[in-house]
Amino acid sequence: MSSDPATIRREVHRRRTFAIISHPDAGKSTMTEALALHARMISEAGAIHGKAGRKSTVSDWMEMEKARGISVSSTALQFNYRSAAAVTEGSDEINVINLVDTPGHADFSEDTYRVLTAVDAAVMLIDAAKGLEPQTLKLFQVCRHRGIPVITVINKWDRPGRTPLELIDEITERIGLTPTPLYSPVGIAGDFRGLLDRRTGDYIRFTRTAGGATVAPEELLSASDAQATEGDAWTESVEESDLLSEMGQDHDEELFLAGQTSPMIFASAMLNFGVRQLLEALVEFAPPPGPREAVDGTVREVVDPFSAVVFKVQAGMDAAHRDRLAFMRIVSGEFERGMVVTHAQSGKPFATKYAQAVFGRDRSTVDTAYPGDVVGLVNAMTLAPGDTLCVDPTVEFPPIPSFAPEHFSVLRAVSAGKYKQFRKAMDQLVSEGVVQVLRNDLRGDASPVLAAVGPMQFEVVTARMKTEFGVDTSVERLGYSVARRTDPDSADELGRQRGVEVFTRTDGALLALVSDKWRLQYIEKEHPTLTLEPLVAAA
Ligand code: G4P
Repeated sequence: MSSDPATIRREVHRRRTFAIISHPDAGKSTMTEALALHARMISEAGAIHGKAGRKSTVSDWMEMEKARGISVSSTALQFNYRSAAAVTEGSDEINVINLVDTPGHADFSEDTYRVLTAVDAAVMLIDAAKGLEPQTLKLFQVCRHRGIPVITVINKWDRPGRTPLELIDEITERIGLTPTPLYSPVGIAGDFRGLLDRRTGDYIRFTRTAGGATVAPEELLSASDAQATEGDAWTESVEESDLLSEMGQDHDEELFLAGQTSPMIFASAMLNFGVRQLLEALVEFAPPPGPREAVDGTVREVVDPFSAVVFKVQAGMDAAHRDRLAFMRIVSGEFERGMVVTHAQSGKPFATKYAQAVFGRDRSTVDTAYPGDVVGLVNAMTLAPGDTLCVDPTVEFPPIPSFAPEHFSVLRAVSAGKYKQFRKAMDQLVSEGVVQVLRNDLRGDASPVLAAVGPMQFEVVTARMKTEFGVDTSVERLGYSVARRTDPDSADELGRQRGVEVFTRTDGALLALVSDKWRLQYIEKEHPTLTLEPLVAAA
């Protein structure tokens, strides 16, 4: 095995691993297609990541997803990109871009949060007409919490929307992130002509192609030519850019990496405008994969022996083979298919004979992978999100925090005869981190309470219970909306309160479910000595 540090360093240097965070409908799927198109992975946009009814639906794997036209699972996309700098310098450096897909539905969020533990940067995609939307806000808070730098893309600039300054103000005021536009759009939202490159002062003029199906041709014009062709639209763009410079809103790499500023790009994913600029920004500014701290406080450097973190486990991707796929993000060293690694949590060996790059439904075998890459492991029955895989010296990375559930339901097998399968299925879904399961003596084992971040997680459970385990289940929603961690000393008194029920979660934690936050406030006021700690909140 050739894991010499120089090779690994070179591979790490050219890699960028990121996710797109956005509210449903902001254009994430369209942008994903456009990015891949630019990277020449596919010849025509629409072929990889379409939604229901579009050309192909490679990231959809459950019938339910098809019906809803949304993507429930995460997939990872890898493509090569030769940057403008490489072209200018005549270097043959090719960047490797890993785009870790996030489920887009507002309801199904825990998955999305987990994906953010596997990336080094995020692209916050905003609809020019809508501005910041709830799901984007939540995901942004997770990025901030984890110290992930964010590049902002204002999408749909080809449609009427807000002004650049309105959008910049909104982001600054609502989330305390200072946008530093790399370009100033030429033409208002709805009249997208091109971009003023704020660093060179040049004009990048775009030309539309039929249906945005091919890379939009770009022309580079000088400021005087731009003035002559675009007139007022150019003047306004220059004025806006000058104003931003006066306010100090120019890109600053240190502030960006510290999460204080965000390079901003105006784009139309549909027309393929501004997409190359996003790739350039990722290559130029987003950080390459870096070291990670282990639970014991030691740091695994990228050139250290192989280690990886499992951030997502999923079953049923391939209906014909009831398999279970674990996605790992490589943290250090070189990965070679076939290598036997140690599962740090159990100390047991894990064979990686069937490692795969997962590209929607088309899987290809991975032979070698480096830090920042995402690899799918087939038949990963023993792996759970947050687990570490490594070679000697063994390392264990901190677990992925589970997020505060806000929705609770009782799950029952419709037929009592299916109880054994029901139990088995429950154990598997819990180990995959699909839902959290709560139990107490009063309700008994046959009707566990499921706790979820979004109500769609319940549908995923019932659908999988049926298709994978042949168990029909019924779901009964419970009237609780807040969960708090408590302790044995407080449990009895809490159990006597109206609107409260105490449970033990699978990991042993004692949780008090409370009907609503007003009830919680009342109890906290009346019984100040009771333990009621917030769980890790996503936002
Ligand atoms: P999502 O994954 O974030 O949910 O969004 P998606 O890419 O599916 O885009 C949502 C809708 O917005 C789609 O329209 C898509 O065509 C449109 N869209 C995305 N980017 C742009 C853009 O830059 N400009 C304009 N004008 N529209 C954009 P749809 O009508 O829901 O679907 P479709 O019939 O177009 O496929």
